[in-house]
Amino acid sequence: MSKLKKIGHWLDDRTGFSDTILPLLKHPVPPDAKWSYVFGSATLFCFLLQVLTGIGLALLYQPSSETAYQSLQFITHKAVMGNVLRGIHYFGASGMILMAGVHMVRVYLTASYKYPREMSWISGVFLLLFTITMGFTGQLLRWDSNGVWSSIVAAEQLGRVPFIGTTLARLLIGGDTLGAQSLSRFFAYHVFIFPGLIFLFVGFHLQQVIRNGISEPPKPGRLVDPKTYRQWYSNMLEKVGRPFWPDAAWRDALFGSLVILVIVALAVIFGPPELTKPPDPSIIYTTPTPDWYLLSIFALFALMPPSIESYVIFIGPVLAIGALIALPLLSNKGERSPRRRPWSVVVVICVVVFMISLLIAGFQAPWSPEFKPRPLAAAMQVPEQPVLKKGMVLFSDKGCLYCHRMHGVGGIKGPDLSTIGRNWTAEQLRIQIVNGSEGMPAYGGMLTNDELHALVVFLDARQ
Ligand code: HEC
Repeated sequence: MSKLKKIGHWLDDRTGFSDTILPLLKHPVPPDAKWSYVFGSATLFCFLLQVLTGIGLALLYQPSSETAYQSLQFITHKAVMGNVLRGIHYFGASGMILMAGVHMVRVYLTASYKYPREMSWISGVFLLLFTITMGFTGQLLRWDSNGVWSSIVAAEQLGRVPFIGTTLARLLIGGDTLGAQSLSRFFAYHVFIFPGLIFLFVGFHLQQVIRNGISEPPKPGRLVDPKTYRQWYSNMLEKVGRPFWPDAAWRDALFGSLVILVIVALAVIFGPPELTKPPDPSIIYTTPTPDWYLLSIFALFALMPPSIESYVIFIGPVLAIGALIALPLLSNKGERSPRRRPWSVVVVICVVVFMISLLIAGFQAPWSPEFKPRPLAAAMQVPEQPVLKKGMVLFSDKGCLYCHRMHGVGGIKGPDLSTIGRNWTAEQLRIQIVNGSEGMPAYGGMLTNDELHALVVFLDARQ
């Protein structure tokens, strides 16, 4: 026996590779599962690409509000291949979401979620949610005005959920306002928590594939019957099954590599998205645009009449996620072919058209005008005293309301000022407004003495 073979035998004996892993690779699959079955593995390819490039970025990225923006500038413009690395991570995210979407549509159209693969579908729903969350949290890490303002808007949307909204928003951004602590928190979400969850669920998702086998392509008239399906499936595999490796796996490998090639090519040709300006507290009329896969969600909320927004923000996602999870539980047998389930095709077309129109709406009319807070006068009793009234109007007109909450309206970038008069003296208020501070523009040159006086009196009266 040659030396090499000996080493091979030794390794195999100790690790048990040919006993445990090899049978998994060689497990039989239905023979006619062809090209439409490659999107799931392509999603996994994209995920692994994200992990690799993410590790590369994390070696240089500094998750602190002081240095995050500069460190990304360094990665983009100075680091060797840094530009391409960021580009791959960016287009990889888009690729992953796109592939996951197509995979889900394929599974839905061929009703592969039916018996016995219900848990594959349900774990897939969670994987989709985690993936979207990765996109959202990653965007804040750019720590440019786009990323920061998008997160502020999202936190505000969350804050409108009845009863628990404030708690949820606090949990999301790690406090009452979006600041340095939010960046640490999002970094932990993006680098530890959600990738960990994705690994866990991918493991489970794959274990399910091994346990139940991939679904055979549907044939009109061949019904799924939970009583007989497993028996039928294993008989079918015994007769016509092919080993996964290499008979089916080469398609996955080829398509996955192609997807990665396209991502790398896009990264080399177009590069990563330009970083917009660092978040500047004095620019309060920016129109942030989140990345495309989040844009349709944002656009949906922006186009909704504000009166129903609070309910839809709360009920909409609960209903949508609930419906997705319930799908395989409510309909787990019977016809699988899309030809006998024409409404499934209609559903897919409607959802795709809906998403694309929202996307177009999101690109054309930035949703941020809707982000304008309700006027303060709608939330509180208008004071009689002229100077107080003037202060109230100025509080809206000068943009304070964009960052500060008062009596339930306004932004969350700065602290809630509904009861500021309790702990702050008039003199302190004057100094804060004139000089501003780290997160707040200095209004010294922008206000007349009268206006300043009115604002201070107005705030001082917030008891
Ligand atoms: C761009 C956002 C922004 C705008 C606009 C803004 N502020 Fe602020 N403000 C902040 C932030 C952030 C803080 C918290 C202090 C800090 O951490 O720098 C703050 C703090 C304050 C405080 C002290 C409250 C405390 O508990 O710390 C007062 C008072 C205040 N702002 C009043 C105003 C008034 C009046 C206006 C309008 C003329 C205004 N702010 C406009 C962001 C803003």
